[in-house]
Amino acid sequence: MDLKTENAAIADESKFRYKRILTGDRPTGPLHLGHYVGSLRNRVRLQNKYETFILIADIQALTTNFEHPEKLQENIFLAALDYLSCGIDPNLSTIIIQSMIPEISELTTFFSMLISVNPLKHNPTIKTEAKERGYKELTYGFLGYPVSQTADIAIFKADLVPVGIDQLPHIELARKIVRKFNELYNGKLIEPFALIDKFPKLAGLDGNLKMSKSYGNAINLSDGFDLIKSKIRSALTDKNRIHPTDKGNPEICTIYSYHRAFSGETLIKETEYNCKNGKIGCVKCKENLFGVIKKLLEPMNERRAYYLNNKGEIWDILLTGTAKAKVIASETIKEVKETMKILYTLP
Ligand code: TRP
Ligand code: SF4
Repeated sequence: MDLKTENAAIADESKFRYKRILTGDRPTGPLHLGHYVGSLRNRVRLQNKYETFILIADIQALTTNFEHPEKLQENIFLAALDYLSCGIDPNLSTIIIQSMIPEISELTTFFSMLISVNPLKHNPTIKTEAKERGYKELTYGFLGYPVSQTADIAIFKADLVPVGIDQLPHIELARKIVRKFNELYNGKLIEPFALIDKFPKLAGLDGNLKMSKSYGNAINLSDGFDLIKSKIRSALTDKNRIHPTDKGNPEICTIYSYHRAFSGETLIKETEYNCKNGKIGCVKCKENLFGVIKKLLEPMNERRAYYLNNKGEIWDILLTGTAKAKVIASETIKEVKETMKILYTLP
């Protein structure tokens, strides 16, 4: 998708009228450097600027992992641990467990009347995802997850949703549903904007365009340094380079793309120059990268160790965040019902 194309759903962050953001993840396993580059890093910055809500979308996780609900509790814990390790500050960001706010499911049901099945079936993100997962038939829940995501956003009255460009169709859909609700019932729900992080997706260690747990090509934030070192050692570089003096092409090298994501300007420039001119070996270049990643992860590991020793604090943070969110959600659902004239009162 071309970002330059004008898209009404994309927010201009320089306009300061936005107040609240909502982001979320399905708790399906450990978060990796791709998540860090694609969203976590940005969230840590955004929490200083906006009122931030982060939803651990356990119900949405069931749309693909319904056979293993017993894994959710551990995965919710791990997601929260990853967030806190990365620098998500519970005093600035509210972390919410989706299934503990039944009002979201209620709003999902109301919204589900306002969208027909066809646009969901033709939603490019749904299609790609279904194909990647090899789904021949889609469950009602999977097909409808963009509707439940709309409810996630609307119930908290978020103006902004920081997402990757692949999620843009969902934000467009959310706007459409909310607009329809407002027009139909004379409602006042907020049409959200997408806040697109322009940093390109992080490639996998194997050179695949996407780092993903399911491709087994990821460096997890929770990986130990020895494991990370060996993963980096095995990562795909410019295959045509055999000797350190061979002239390389950094543009086709995974390691170089990681340098671009994590290293400082000087090291990025040096790497490009040295690679192109055969002045550095890939082994050394990978060592440099490892150094950078280690430095990035060290403070995270410190926080991780702290929380692993104080697991109860994580559950406290989750329950406090969810309780705070619950207050907002129940207000919104009351408003929604009033708007729809289904907040029944005794005659
Ligand atoms: N769809 C997101 C994912 O695939 C998770 C998510 C659920 C979300 N609800 C959301 C993202 C609301 C942004 C806003 O991980
Ligand atoms: Fe990649 Fe670095 Fe080797 Fe160049 S020197 S091919 S950038 S690992």
